[in-house]
Amino acid sequence: MKRGSLRASLAALLASASVLLVACGGSAPEPTPAPQAQAPAAEPTKVGADVIEKGKAAFNKYGCQACHAIKGFAEGQVGPALDNMYVVAQQRITSAEYKQSKGKAKTAEEYIRESILHPNDYIVPQCPTGPCPAGVMIQNFEQQITPEELQALIGYLMSLGR
Ligand code: HEC
Repeated sequence: MKRGSLRASLAALLASASVLLVACGGSAPEPTPAPQAQAPAAEPTKVGADVIEKGKAAFNKYGCQACHAIKGFAEGQVGPALDNMYVVAQQRITSAEYKQSKGKAKTAEEYIRESILHPNDYIVPQCPTGPCPAGVMIQNFEQQITPEELQALIGYLMSLGR
């Protein structure tokens, strides 16, 4: 091989190497992207651990576990299991039976609140041992539960099924 052609091919090699270097280097100092916009405010708010703890405490204090099951926490078999409450609440309020009832809830949260405070406005069709009985769910929780306990209880039940 002649010296000249060796130099030429070396030069070619160097040239392509520098092209590569430019290509690689070119992407490195890219302008830092503008900070991402914050997550939209419409994201469902996560229920905090403290709310869940207070909600569970209220659940026990008012004897809900005597009638309701929640996996790993309660085993009542009189009323419906509440494991999937967030999803179930939305199914309830869009059901034909609910629309014909006295229930007025438009959201899962309103449904859960109503189920606790005004249990007879809508009677859930199916309980573990057959059709749900009316008037069995305690009727005067509104007089017993403090607003703070109620809020925690609703927050806790809203966290189930999400
Ligand atoms: C004596 C038994 C009993 C107790 C105690 C009781 N419940 Fe119920 N609960 C029921 C029955 C029966 C139903 C279904 C009939 C109805 O819709 O009222 C029900 C329905 C519900 C529903 C609606 C569930 C669904 O699938 O739509 C929620 C929510 C609920 N109860 C929460 C509670 C909470 C929270 C407590 C404690 C503060 C509680 N219950 C205490 C018997 C009980």
